[in-house]
Amino acid sequence: PAKSSSSSDKTGGGSKQITLGFSQVGSESGWRAANTQSVKEAAKAAGINLKFSDAQQKQENQISAIRSYIAQKVDVISFSPVVVTGWDTVLKEAKAAGIPVILTDRSVETSDPSLYVTLVGSDFEIEGERAAHMLEKVLAGHTGPVKIAQLEGTTGAAPAIERAKGFAKIMKASHPEWSIIASQTGDFTRAGGKQVMAAFLQAHSDIDVLFSHNDDMAIGAIQSIQAAGKTPGKDIKIVSVDGVHDGFVAMSKGQINGIVECNPLLGPQLMDAVKTVHAGKGSTLPRWIKTQETDYTADQAAAALPSRKY
Ligand code: AHR
Repeated sequence: PAKSSSSSDKTGGGSKQITLGFSQVGSESGWRAANTQSVKEAAKAAGINLKFSDAQQKQENQISAIRSYIAQKVDVISFSPVVVTGWDTVLKEAKAAGIPVILTDRSVETSDPSLYVTLVGSDFEIEGERAAHMLEKVLAGHTGPVKIAQLEGTTGAAPAIERAKGFAKIMKASHPEWSIIASQTGDFTRAGGKQVMAAFLQAHSDIDVLFSHNDDMAIGAIQSIQAAGKTPGKDIKIVSVDGVHDGFVAMSKGQINGIVECNPLLGPQLMDAVKTVHAGKGSTLPRWIKTQETDYTADQAAAALPSRKY
């Protein structure tokens, strides 16, 4: 069962306090930990009563959490969908109950756009394209074929699908010399990255590059690369996505060559959207509220590390 918690039910000031039911994906990565903290802190700062539940990367847990928020008649529901498909039924239940839904971080596939008000989160396809451009920088001066191993995020999750798509798009358009020789999910976890990279290394002695869909899997993979007697960042160049603290530490040691930032600090933008929706002004919001992100190469890591916020 999903782990749940709730902040105080006290009403703040004269007007009725807004209650937000939030279903988090899980606690699979450093990114997710920062995102959870941002949501909790922003709810507190905005005076919003947050009901929070961790689905432990299971869609059925998210569906039961959403159903329980509907039963509790919360004012607004928000969730970060673990995968893109399979949400229409529960979203229709929320709509029938008159509870607006705001997606955060990840998107869903639906034929009915009225089932959610807006998405607060990153453009993952662009992140995949940025990762390919980062690899161009990392490989500057290199000639000849480049053999790439890809550690994918959770199968069926928007960031896994879109990052792979964006990367493949640039590869197809500009890099006939690049090829993806191995690609498998590591479920966005360190343990997954470690295990899958070990299998990649057993099957392929000639991997030049690792493209990891997040820092945690890259950090796990670094352990397997070292165990195989190779030097991460040198024998195998690594590009990953997120920009969490431990990713920056690995980058400052030269083990990761470049990171495409994905900003997890979505809490403040989410709470602003919750207030707007609760005030009946959801139609004034854009369908997609995007976040600000930057790219970093290894030579920038040490200087950037002290000011990283997550
Ligand atoms: O949906 C965002 C992704 O989910 C992050 O890039 C990854 O670290 C997390 O698990």
